[in-house]
Amino acid sequence: MEVRVFDTYEELSREAANIIIAHVRQNSTAVLGLATGSSPLGLYRELIRDHKENGTSYQNVMTFNLDEYVGLEKTHPQSYYYFMMENLFNHINIPLDHINIPNGTAKDIAAECQRYNERLAQHTIDIQILGIGANGHIGFNEPGTPFDSTTHFVKLDEKTRQDNARFFSSIDEVPTHAITMGIQNIMAAKKIILLASGTSKADAIYGMIKGPVDPQLPASILQTHSDVLVFLDKEAASKL
Ligand code: F6R
Repeated sequence: MEVRVFDTYEELSREAANIIIAHVRQNSTAVLGLATGSSPLGLYRELIRDHKENGTSYQNVMTFNLDEYVGLEKTHPQSYYYFMMENLFNHINIPLDHINIPNGTAKDIAAECQRYNERLAQHTIDIQILGIGANGHIGFNEPGTPFDSTTHFVKLDEKTRQDNARFFSSIDEVPTHAITMGIQNIMAAKKIILLASGTSKADAIYGMIKGPVDPQLPASILQTHSDVLVFLDKEAASKL
């Protein structure tokens, strides 16, 4: 793992965006793994700015998102589909059919997990963007998830629901379940960039980098991947 600490979230976001932009400019058919949540918002803003100013094209790029809540329609402002459209896809020239996000309202969730997993198996993600939960989750792979897991239906940890309640009007509205790429899917990416900012992530970051490789802290598996960049602001790096 290569750890880089930045003074500000904006700087961290810009540097991460530059890696993606350079890759997409050199590989027009790049496959990107994407995350939602607060951590990649600055990075997405930079990709949009660059697309508008420099014309970097996403016409042939394909994307796979990590996860989606179960039970929220695509039109729900807190669905990850809506999030991605609002914060990235509506502002770049990616065709809709190049976007892959698990369908959280599929009638048969097990079949949807299998479909997503098969689609992932047909592509290799060049760069996977990750955030990290305060409990060390990546995607929605909560503590205790086996490292060999593939796309699956998951019951969200109470800590995760509490952390995400800030986006909903009350915790009761936070979905209890999600579909997530598994840890094995994430580890299959050629390159991984994990972004973390703020003191609330400091313990998880410490455990991920300095602790044992342990399913109780899912992100610790990244120690065994050959190409991981960890981009932190000073607060997230404060326990290292
Ligand atoms: C989001 C995801 C989650 C988040 C994590 C951190 O698609 O898979 O693992 O990356 O919960 O969320 P933020 O960035 O909001 O702190």
